[in-house]
Amino acid sequence: MNTQFLIAAAGLGERLGREEPKALVPLLGRPMLLHTLDRFREAGLDHGVVLVPPGREETFSAALAGRDVRLTNGGATRQESVRNGLNALEDGTEVVAIHDAARPFVSVAAIRASIAAAAEHGAATVAIPSVDTILEGDEAAFLRATPDRRRLWACQTPQTFRVEVIREAHHRATREGFQGTDDASLVRRMGGRVKLVMGSRHNMKITLPEDLRIAELMMREGLT
Ligand code: CTP
Ligand code: MG
Repeated sequence: MNTQFLIAAAGLGERLGREEPKALVPLLGRPMLLHTLDRFREAGLDHGVVLVPPGREETFSAALAGRDVRLTNGGATRQESVRNGLNALEDGTEVVAIHDAARPFVSVAAIRASIAAAAEHGAATVAIPSVDTILEGDEAAFLRATPDRRRLWACQTPQTFRVEVIREAHHRATREGFQGTDDASLVRRMGGRVKLVMGSRHNMKITLPEDLRIAELMMREGLT
């Protein structure tokens, strides 16, 4: 099946608190986004869309010189960015693997498993069983409920879909004014089945300043 990637790199990384957009922040001297794209290349995916912050196209295209990617402007939220990316996919794309630029250590095995599950079931997300007990609180910070940990997974990416499935899910979310924090949930809320594919703790999302130091330590120790 014709499979393309869609890399969400249009965030500014406010929690990281750096000058440059998060996707261009270096890890051991090289922009995070390039490490991420390398993993997709190793998994056999060379083509796709990279969402970039509007106004930063030139910096991104310089960083991505020589790669066969379509740069597309992202939006104000991740969901809006992904919607723009879905509209920018090359004609004939059948499966799309949507991934956060901020997860540079995704394994080739996870990318492949996510794609295989999407081809079979229509939609899939990488995730890991929760190691923590997760508490649901109320507005006043009192415990409301403790969902059974054995059924809880922490969401990761890539989230991979047959293109028509994720386009329909985004159309509906837009029409109904729903904002989610990931794409698989948009498929689920329209009743679709989403396969959970085993990820790993190494597939961390770089969010806070200390994550950069942890990420570089992992790279030096060969833990990625
Ligand atoms: N993202 C995006 N478009 C947005 C917001 C986020 O493409 N409008 C992307 C980010 O570039 C990132 C991924 O979605 O790769 C996950 O988002 P997050 O970790 O929250 O990154 P930022 O939004 O950049 O960071 P922050 O929330 O700290 O500003
Ligand atoms: Mg964000």
